[in-house]
Amino acid sequence: MEIYTTPTGMQAQSLNWKRQGKRIGLVPTMGFLHEGHLSLMDIAAAHADLVVVSIFVNPTQFGPSEDLEAYPRNLERDLALCRERGVAAVFTPEPSDVYGPEYQSYVSLEKLPNHLCGLSRPVHFRGVATVVSKLFNIVLPDLAVFGEKDFQQLAVIRRLTADLNFPVRIMGGPIVREADGLAMSSRNAYLSPEERVSALCLSMALKHVASEVEKGERDVALLKASTEKIILSRPHTEIDYIAFCDPQTLEAVDSIGGPVLMALAVKVGSTRLIDNQVF
Ligand code: PAF
Repeated sequence: MEIYTTPTGMQAQSLNWKRQGKRIGLVPTMGFLHEGHLSLMDIAAAHADLVVVSIFVNPTQFGPSEDLEAYPRNLERDLALCRERGVAAVFTPEPSDVYGPEYQSYVSLEKLPNHLCGLSRPVHFRGVATVVSKLFNIVLPDLAVFGEKDFQQLAVIRRLTADLNFPVRIMGGPIVREADGLAMSSRNAYLSPEERVSALCLSMALKHVASEVEKGERDVALLKASTEKIILSRPHTEIDYIAFCDPQTLEAVDSIGGPVLMALAVKVGSTRLIDNQVF
């Protein structure tokens, strides 16, 4: 497995592979890999000749009061997992390799970031859109795979790929859950044993709403009220949002007519967790 730390080194290798007619599948990550990331690598491997994983804790997608410094890191373990999974190359630059001292170019979207996580994380999607655009230019992938847990991120990336004419197929990988239902996330590592139990309220609330919708409930206000009850019945929980929205535009809806995205962001202790399901 090759390891590249500079954009020029990675790009030169990708150009080589392209000249050989190889199809490149990219899995962008911020490291501290778990089964969810590994499942994205498997999807990439099934649709490309070789897989590149990027491991980069991207500073521009963190707000000033967020967890950039504390974000969990374990590069040695991540590299071992990538090697075991048959990854061809890992791109793991330093922030200064990606954002030089004169850096001033950003990609921002007009509408999709004005919902859900974008409301409490105002710079987040500009940082994601910028780094993903740069990764596309550096790694030159034919396809790129992102987790559906970050539903809004995936929507933003699909939009920017179409808007900016990147010749990249965007694929979503289903949410991977722990045996008890908690969606896998690198941030789960922050949870204390007691918070880990409380964190189950997200997947429990989604399950509850799924069964209410199945029984015929269509009123979003009622579904929101019961969701709030489930979440707040657990210690250390604070709701950022409970949203029901159109899966394409992310605009809020007040009844379940066609397909609806239910998305949750909940702080458990000081850890902000997200989860979602489309009904
Ligand atoms: O989902 C993530 O891990 C990050 O937001 C991404 C897509 C790698 C961009 O930094």
